[in-house]
Amino acid sequence: MARPSVVFLMSTSVDGRTALGPGRSQWEELADPRTSMSEGAGEVWKLVEKELMELHNPQAIMLGSASIQKEGDPLKPLEPKVGEAVHLREDHLPEDVVRDLGVRVWLVVPDSRGRLRSGYKGTETPGHHVLHLVTRTTPFVYLAFLRRQKIPYMVAGTVWVDLKLALSRLASELGVRCVLVIGGGRLNGALLRAGLVDEVNVIIRPELIGGTATPTMFDCPDLAADAWPVPLDLVGLERPREQFLWLRYRAAREEHLTKRAPFAGSA
Ligand SMILES: NC(=O)c1ccc[n+]([C@@H]2O[C@H](COP(=O)([O-])OP(=O)(O)OC[C@H]3O[C@@H](n4cnc5c(N)ncnc54)[C@H](OP(=O)(O)O)[C@@H]3O)[C@@H](O)[C@H]2O)c1
Repeated sequence: MARPSVVFLMSTSVDGRTALGPGRSQWEELADPRTSMSEGAGEVWKLVEKELMELHNPQAIMLGSASIQKEGDPLKPLEPKVGEAVHLREDHLPEDVVRDLGVRVWLVVPDSRGRLRSGYKGTETPGHHVLHLVTRTTPFVYLAFLRRQKIPYMVAGTVWVDLKLALSRLASELGVRCVLVIGGGRLNGALLRAGLVDEVNVIIRPELIGGTATPTMFDCPDLAADAWPVPLDLVGLERPREQFLWLRYRAAREEHLTKRAPFAGSA
């Protein structure tokens, strides 16, 4: 099944950290005065994001649920009313949102546990709309809540969202040809381990953070002993502002990986 191209954009310290510490949401990060230590970081992000939007014209922007709702924080209780539960685990792509609103960019969030409960739709930017990715084990009360809020969702996977399937279905059902993924590290890591990386954009900020549990660009299980790193081609190197670098890498497609010579010590 064809899938959209997957383009990443992250901003990191020189030591590759994408947050000031573990277990924080994006809002906490932005409110923390230490995030503005590298003057101009926000401005550089906007500039690079704008260039990537023009370059790739993505029909979806994807962000991890933990970037929005901090892990472990108490969740807003939901109305227990669910109606006919059997239909809830079918996709919810209402015509009046999917077709009539003329959505150009889907704001996609994998949220298998049903933690994003604000009802946020992302419509303050014309042509944008939130879409949740859920699974066959997402609580019924949450799916009923999304339906009441008229927030579309797609069901893919059992426990975690099956990201490969979800991307293919975004392509086939909503015409998504490119997804811009803007983190966080665990979402990126899951996409990396599923072989779903086409382009990586890194903004390097002039700072060091350090840490052992602080998020990085791709947080996922360690590389297996018989697996290869994903080779990248550097296709762009810019200095969008004094002190900042923007690196653009394209990932080699799978066919190139299979042709790589085996490790000299093997066989
Ligand atoms: N510097 C930057 O450019 C940048 C950008 C974005 C975010 N951030 C920072 O990054 C931090 C949050 O990052 P984070 O890594 O903790 O969380 P995150 O990546 O935002 O959230 C984890 C996401 O990955 C999904 N996931 C995890 N494992 C999966 C798997 N195996 N299969 C499918 N889906 C999987 C989770 O889905 P479920 O909800 O279904 O569990 C969730 O949506 C925040 O501090 C934020 O400010 C920095």
